[in-house]
Amino acid sequence: MREWTPDSWHRRPAQQQPTYTDQVRLKEVLVRLAELPPLVTSWEVDRLKTQLAEAAVGQRFLLQGGCCAESFSQCRSDIITNKLKILLQMSLVLTFGLKRQIIRVGRFAGQYAKPRSADTETRDGVTLPTYRGELVNGLDFAPEVRRPDPERLLRGYEYSALTLNFIRSLVEGGFADLHHPEYWDLNFVAHSPRAKEYQAMVETISDSLRFMETLAGIQAEQISRVDFYTSHEGLHLAYEQANTRRVPHREGFFNLSTHMPWIGMRTADPGGAHVEYFRGISNPIGVKVGPGMTGEWLQDLLEILDPEKEPGRMTLIHRLGHDKVGEYLPNLIETVKESGHRVVWCCDPMHGNTETTASGLKTRRFENILSELEQSFDIHHAIGSYLGGVHFELSGDNVTECIGGARGLSEVDLERAYESHVDPRLNYEQSLEMALQVARKIATMNGRVV
Ligand code: PEP
Ligand code: CO
Repeated sequence: MREWTPDSWHRRPAQQQPTYTDQVRLKEVLVRLAELPPLVTSWEVDRLKTQLAEAAVGQRFLLQGGCCAESFSQCRSDIITNKLKILLQMSLVLTFGLKRQIIRVGRFAGQYAKPRSADTETRDGVTLPTYRGELVNGLDFAPEVRRPDPERLLRGYEYSALTLNFIRSLVEGGFADLHHPEYWDLNFVAHSPRAKEYQAMVETISDSLRFMETLAGIQAEQISRVDFYTSHEGLHLAYEQANTRRVPHREGFFNLSTHMPWIGMRTADPGGAHVEYFRGISNPIGVKVGPGMTGEWLQDLLEILDPEKEPGRMTLIHRLGHDKVGEYLPNLIETVKESGHRVVWCCDPMHGNTETTASGLKTRRFENILSELEQSFDIHHAIGSYLGGVHFELSGDNVTECIGGARGLSEVDLERAYESHVDPRLNYEQSLEMALQVARKIATMNGRVV
């Protein structure tokens, strides 16, 4: 095996990297980043890998979700709390629907770098660098804001730490009542044709919780001890390298800025710098799989990234689109089966279903998202594979970015509360409804009525 070092990616072509004018400051910042204490620990990373190994064989289920891109200004207690709350509530719904333990992984505490389709953006004859996420530059269309700024690498690290610190405190306590559907915001349910079914599911969850707490004597506090892991796209390689550490008494290197970094669609070239970087870290890693990925390509990636066929190492996040999943997914599953790699298959029903409205807003339809998910469950099941997770872009607030759901949000509603800087997210209600739909789908597949 070729030698790997945290900087060996420099010898490969690196896509999607910003160009900094101040190289001296960039170097100083990277040195400082490498000295700062890590955000996560190697034993947390290992625990997640063990749990993912169980998800790969159908014993657990991965729920991964959060913003397309976090922003520094949204690092606020209410926004973070609401995001944890929706992920927790979704995970509870899924636990009851799937009868499996759920692994909760947020797209948070570091989801600050974005791949873009072009390096520059032109408005009214003025050309500036594109917005690449808060880790790199700002959104406003002004030269000083769009210029990649090395200081932002430190800011991104600090905001990640602030976010994670608050998440850890919430998880430690004070979060228990969020388990109880009595406290959930379920007004939307009445607007759905499935209102009765949803109501019945929520009641079952409430009853089961009451049972555990009162009859089985398990305290709410114990139930509420939940783990949240973090993930982000490992895009900005200099930043990821600075966060790559050795730990005492262990072999190898860990990326300790997050538990589970993933490789995005645009940077998954087997000969590219991102794959080179990722192959050397010990974290569990994700790879996005889009319709352009051939069987051979996927096989190459698996050989490079998971030569030992290590359980829990690989999560393949397929994002094919509701109109393409039927055509592409079966072959991809067969390819992986033949390769002998044990991966977690995770469906991202968001990124293959993006469309642009007449007024130029990016949106996604609830029905298309749900359709890709449902088809994915069916396809895996039919081939004797297991869909081990779902990946959503979501907000815990009532933003209006995606169309549809029980309230029937339409194009005109999008203007009202469209806050995402990049891709459209499911809002609180749409996310909870999606979880109810998934739970219902699984229960039906297993011949149960919910
Ligand atoms: C994303 O997850 O926000 C993203 C850019 O996805 P993909 O790489 O699948 O396009
Ligand atoms: Co996105």
